Amino acid sequence: MVISNLPGFYELDRTSRLKILKEQVNLTNDEIKILENTGGVDFNIIDHMVENAIGVMSLPLGIATNFVINGVDRLIPMAVEETSVIAAASHAAKIARHTGGFKAVTTPQIMIGQIEVSNIPDINAARIRIYENRDMLLKIAAEKDPMLIKVGGGPIDINVKIIGDSVKPMMVVHLLVNTMDAMGANAVNTMVETLGTYIEDITKGTVNLRIISNLAIYRIVRAYATFPKENLARAGFSGEEVVDRIIEAYKFALHDPFRCATHNKGIMNGISAVVIATGNDFRAIEAGAHAYASYTTGYRPLTTYEKNENGDLVGSIEIPMAVGLIGGATSVHPIAKINVKIAGVKHVSELQEIIASVGLAQNFAALYALTTEGIQRGHMSLHARNIAISAGAVGNEIDIVAKQLVSEKKIRIERASEIIANMRKSEKK
Ligand code: MEV
Repeated sequence: MVISNLPGFYELDRTSRLKILKEQVNLTNDEIKILENTGGVDFNIIDHMVENAIGVMSLPLGIATNFVINGVDRLIPMAVEETSVIAAASHAAKIARHTGGFKAVTTPQIMIGQIEVSNIPDINAARIRIYENRDMLLKIAAEKDPMLIKVGGGPIDINVKIIGDSVKPMMVVHLLVNTMDAMGANAVNTMVETLGTYIEDITKGTVNLRIISNLAIYRIVRAYATFPKENLARAGFSGEEVVDRIIEAYKFALHDPFRCATHNKGIMNGISAVVIATGNDFRAIEAGAHAYASYTTGYRPLTTYEKNENGDLVGSIEIPMAVGLIGGATSVHPIAKINVKIAGVKHVSELQEIIASVGLAQNFAALYALTTEGIQRGHMSLHARNIAISAGAVGNEIDIVAKQLVSEKKIRIERASEIIANMRKSEKK
């Protein structure tokens, strides 16, 4: 029986932590060896990043090709476990290349910090008192991060709203901070935590939460691309038909939340893969994306599709993008650092433009497949490779086994094992 009460586990070195795990859950020596392999990343870094560290959980890392973004060719690192995501993004980027690729723009890097205040005797007047004290509050917040001010960022404004019902209204103070090349959670959280007592003094109310909002409505990236109809004919459908079918599929997502969730999931397949590869907080991006998708009228697709004057398909995306290049895992994790180098980004806006373009490419690729041959065909050949590997195929065997599984339409591990055994038997003869 496992005992999860492990006092002092966090103080142990890695070998001792692994020893306890080995005893508790009967890990084999081979399993311990696998855990010990940190894929070239110094364990000390991992140990400082999280508590009770024992190893790394590696994801496949691949490069999306063919991307041209704002006129610049980019090689884009993507970390993702799902088969065919990288191939699909690369394929979409190849089609968009015919018309110059993706065009993308970003806003300044403005994040919102929230301060929740309740029990305010005169809430409407208190709201105005906060605005009266705006400059003083901004100055106090700015003093918390001189480095950010030095590089041109810092707190820029305060908004106050009243929420809840008239019997028990609540005030929410928003501090807007330009976080420049950082994701900004630390800077913003420090500032709003500091402002809490000042807000209590001004409002005579009770401050409760002081925390960043992941609904980053002022930190938006927008991108669009044109997919020429000449390059879209597929599976017996003409290019014109494919354009119409994709626009119909977009409308389906626009009017149906069940489809919209999957539509947006496809976008996030690409977005999260780049966000993870660059060591950014993918939960923040996911939360922000879905909240933004429902911020106005119901839950909506993060992309749109329409026809231009030539009848070509034009796709666009608009999404909050709270990623950073400094601070956080991006500047600590050696592979994240290499990935930033591969992407060739110097400013956070370039990273945001890349991420949005990949999201759009991913969504286009999914809709292109879904509206023509379906996604299973493409998925199956890649899935068959995974099955072949799981069954023990190595080297050339992987492709041979995968092809046979697909041709037999039996993508199962038992069948893969049989094929491998037969191949090896006939090789011995
Ligand atoms: C699968 O991971 C993503 C898709 O379901 C997205 C979509 O349906 O648009 C293919």
